[in-house]
This record gives sequence, structure tokens and C-alpha cells, in this order.
Amino acid sequence: MCGIVGYSGSRQAVEILIDALKRLEYRGYDSAGIAVCGKELQVYKDKGEIAKLQESLPVMKGTVGISHTRWATCGRPSKENAHPFVDCTGRFALVHNGIIENHMALRRELVARGHKFTSETDTEVLVHLLEESYKGDTHAALVETLKKVKGTYAVAVVRSGSNEVVAARKENPLVVGLGVGENFVASDVTALLNYTNKVLYVMDGESAVISPAGVRLFDESGQEVRREPSTISWTIDDAEKGGFGHFMLKEIYEEPLAIHNTLLGYLDDISDGNSIGSSRFSSVKIVACGSSFHAAMVGKYVIEALSDTPTTLELASEYRYSPGTKELPLVVLVSQSGETADTLAAAREARRRGCKTYAITNVVGSTLTREVDEVFYTRAGPEIGVAATKTYITQLVALYLLGMRMGIARGTIGPDSLRSMRSELRSMPKHVRTVLDNSSAIEEATDMLVNARDVFFIGRNINYPTVLEGALKLKEISYIHAEGYAAGELKHGPLALLDAHTPVVAACVKDHTYDKMLANVAEVAARDSPVLAIGFEDDTELNAVADRVIRIPKVSPIFSPMLITVVLQMLAYYTARRKGCPIDKPRNLAKSVTVE
Ligand code: F6R
Repeated sequence: MCGIVGYSGSRQAVEILIDALKRLEYRGYDSAGIAVCGKELQVYKDKGEIAKLQESLPVMKGTVGISHTRWATCGRPSKENAHPFVDCTGRFALVHNGIIENHMALRRELVARGHKFTSETDTEVLVHLLEESYKGDTHAALVETLKKVKGTYAVAVVRSGSNEVVAARKENPLVVGLGVGENFVASDVTALLNYTNKVLYVMDGESAVISPAGVRLFDESGQEVRREPSTISWTIDDAEKGGFGHFMLKEIYEEPLAIHNTLLGYLDDISDGNSIGSSRFSSVKIVACGSSFHAAMVGKYVIEALSDTPTTLELASEYRYSPGTKELPLVVLVSQSGETADTLAAAREARRRGCKTYAITNVVGSTLTREVDEVFYTRAGPEIGVAATKTYITQLVALYLLGMRMGIARGTIGPDSLRSMRSELRSMPKHVRTVLDNSSAIEEATDMLVNARDVFFIGRNINYPTVLEGALKLKEISYIHAEGYAAGELKHGPLALLDAHTPVVAACVKDHTYDKMLANVAEVAARDSPVLAIGFEDDTELNAVADRVIRIPKVSPIFSPMLITVVLQMLAYYTARRKGCPIDKPRNLAKSVTVE
């Protein structure tokens, strides 16, 4: 997720482009850049936050320009990889938010035709394609360029000698701001609120030409589109959160897109990588902290089920105390931030022991990525809320993909099951959306939790880690004491704590654990504990044993943690909101834990 701004008017562009960009910093903050069209095209960019760029900004005169704040997904954060990118003739500057899936093939072709690249990014192909397509009309050239790419984008372009900003979008947000004698384009309205509250939402597949005189919108077929402007009544604070009350909720609602982006490009060529996941290891060890550890636990079930590879788990803070084994496992380190001190120490220790290391992280260029042999990037975009939500879901996606690749390499997954797993993963964004659409039922279910002192979460097998994660979410943001338990363990102690004031949340999917889960739920109900069950949409038995049931779309049980987790995240969120807790910044917690 990156932030884009474009301006065309009569004022000096630079101040507007920087001020508006700062409003988008929550979308990305590892590097930033700006291009202004005056007498000639001037471009300035650097690694780091926008304030740093601003401090060293040279004088840039001109009334048209674009700017960008980056969250790296392809190519580490660096000055070279920062946007805007300029073509070989120096006429065009371009900024992009999204992922160009076929960039490697396009880059090879462009290099063969003599184009010189200056960065490692997927984006740079766009500006070289634009240069080739240009025949006197930048809009036509951009439309032509976008026909050649596979992937997702919001893109904005300026050309030296022109007062137009040309923009287009596919699956990434873009909005046009309407002023008097000046017009704007941006990734979202947050950037524009200092300048206008009249906006035109650019729809998927559409493009726009912005000049001081006006704005023209075009549909996919090139027909001009007329649209009434919308009036925005949000404050800047509201807008940063996209109208959601908290970043955490916004980030939960971003999960369908985060899953989609993380799968992009990986599902199709899952079998032909020559990397670690496709190699044969006799065992795997997954190491992580906190929520990432719960994702790792799900990963253990997935890797063992799909590839028959024995998999062990270690908390990163404990890894150094575990004895090394003669047979070296593949060590998988899971960390959304890539900066967690315990996980970094474990990565170093694993390499010291001679193990191959594979990191799953959300932050390109983070320290962890420099400490391991191979990296898989989840593409969740920046997560501002302290509680991990969309990064957790995409860690699960990464671990499913790893399990599938290992299964293919070991011959434990045949073409039929590969086909059906691919199709289920592709449907996951849609299923998560269905869960989100059920938010009012989840919010109502918080009646059962909001006044509780203690809450138990129970599940079995692959949903045992899911309930651990549900309990962690509830405790960290609502300050209610919550414990996750393997459902079979309740009777070995915790049952003594259950009574009518202690609710139990039970993950009850119809798989080989179902009958035993129902028996555990009955045990709980017999102690008068109120039971909130989560089950498949077609489950007809749960209503008889639970006080309340939240339903999720029917998927193969192995994928059910993704959907149950979303329910549990929302349950924690709505409970904390009813209690008036500072959800995005829970007390005593930090987003990235850099001490051991
Ligand atoms: C909980 C949470 C933490 C992190 C943990 C590890 O919501 O976010 O438990 O999961 O601090 O952080 P990363 O994944 O950055 O290594």
C-alpha cells in the first residue's frame, strides 16, 4: 500500500504535493518522492519519511506535479526504488500503488529493446512502456501501457511541457479532488481535505485527465464518463481511518484485499519456484512471538497435513535454549514487522547452527530480511493498529503457500488437490467479505463478553491456535482476562473456573474433531457457562448446544482458521469498543518489540 498525490493548478505544486502526501503517510512511509513540471521535469526522492524528504528538498518550481509515499512490496526501501520513476527520454514521471505481476517478463523485453532501468521495482516497467506507447497523447499512452500489464494499480503520470496529470486505477483506490482553477488526484480523500471537499471517485478500470481547467473521466473502453461529485464531510482524522472508528477495524476490513495481494503471482507459479519452499527438508521448525507464533502453530498443522514433513514450533525467545539437532531443519521465522528482537536473535542462532532460514514478513527491507536465506513477503500494507490483524491473516496465507509448495516437492499433493486448494484460496477474500458482512451479529454477540471478568476460548486441532489468537486479541485490546485452551484440556483443570459468569467461545467446525467439540461444549454448558459457538453456515446442530452461534461460510476445515480468526478479531474489537478502550494503542504495548 502506497500513497499517491497529483496536482494541476496555478499555485506552486511542491507545497501542496508534500502537505497532501503527509496525510497519506499511514499508507506507507519507507521512502518518498516528488516530480514537478516547470520549464522542465524535476524529480526528487529519497529513502525515509516525508519530513526527511522535505528537509532536503531543492527548489522546485512549477504548478503541476505528482508525489508518492512508499510501502515497499518489490525492491527494498532505497532512494533508487522510491517513486517517481522517469523514462529514458526524461519526459515522463510516474508514481504507482499496486503490484505489476508480469514485470519480470516486461522488463526483459524492455531491456532487450534498449531501455535502461534504475531500480529493482515492478513499477519502473510502466514508465518505459509509457515512453514506447507515447504518440502525442499521454492519456492514450497510459491506456495502451496498462493493457500490457497484469496486476493491480493506481497510477499517476506527468509529462514535461504539459499541465495535465493523467491517472488510472485497478483494484487500488484513487479519487479526484475538484477545486477552482485547480484539481487534484490522490489515493484517498484524506490527502485532499485541506483543499477541497468535492471529489469524484474513480472506479475500477477508469482513467482520468486532470488539468487546471477541469477533469475528464474515461471508462475502460475509452468513453468519457459523467459523474456527479460527492461532498465529503469527514475530518482528516476520520479520513485517515477511511471512515472507520479505529485503524484496527479498518485493517480488518482490508483483509480481503490483503489476502488477494499476498496470493498475487504465487498461486499460479506455486510449483515452479527453485527456492527453499520447493526443496526437500526432512523437518521444519517454525519460530515466532505472539500472534505470529499462533500463525506458526497453524502453519505446523498445515505443513504436516499437506507435505508430511515433521514440524516443530519454538517461541523465538526460547529458541536459543533448545538443543540443536543433528539433522538440520528448515527454520521458518514469522514476524510481521521483521524487527522483533527475539525473532532476529533466533534467526542468527539458526544460521549459526547451520540451518537454512526462511522469513515470512510484511516489511520489505526489515532487519529480518537481511538475516535469512529467503524471504516471503506478505502484502498486507502497513498495519497501524498495535494488534496484529491483517498481517496475521496474510501470515496464514504465506504458510498455506509454503505447505503447498512443500507438498508438491514431496509428492504428497496431487494435481486434483492442488487445483481445489488453489481455488479455495482464491475464494478466501470473498468468504472473508461474507464474514465482515455479518458484523452486526458479531457485535451483538459481545453482549456475552463485555461484562465478563474471564473468558475461555476453546478449539481443537488446527483451530486450537485459532482460539489462542482469539484470546490474545481479546485480552490485549479489551483488558478482559482471556485464555485459549485445547478443548480437551478443559477438564484437566480450568473447568473448575467455569460458572454462569464465565463465557466460553468455541470454534466448532464440522471436521473430525466436531463430535468431541460438541461434547466439550456440553460439558461447559453443564457448568452454566454461556457458550458462543462459531460454526459453518450449514450446521444444524450447534443451536441446540450453544447460547448463540456465529456462522461462517463452509470451506475445507484446513482453511477454516482464516474465517474463524476474522470473527474473533471482530469480537475482540467490538468488545473493546463497548468498554471504551484505546483500541489502536493498548496500554503497555508497542507495535514492534525491539528488546529481548
Ligand atoms: C498481538 C501482536 C503481537 C505480535 C508480536 C510479534 O496482536 O501483534 O503479539 O504478534 O509482538 O510481532 P512480529 O510479528 O512483528 O514479530
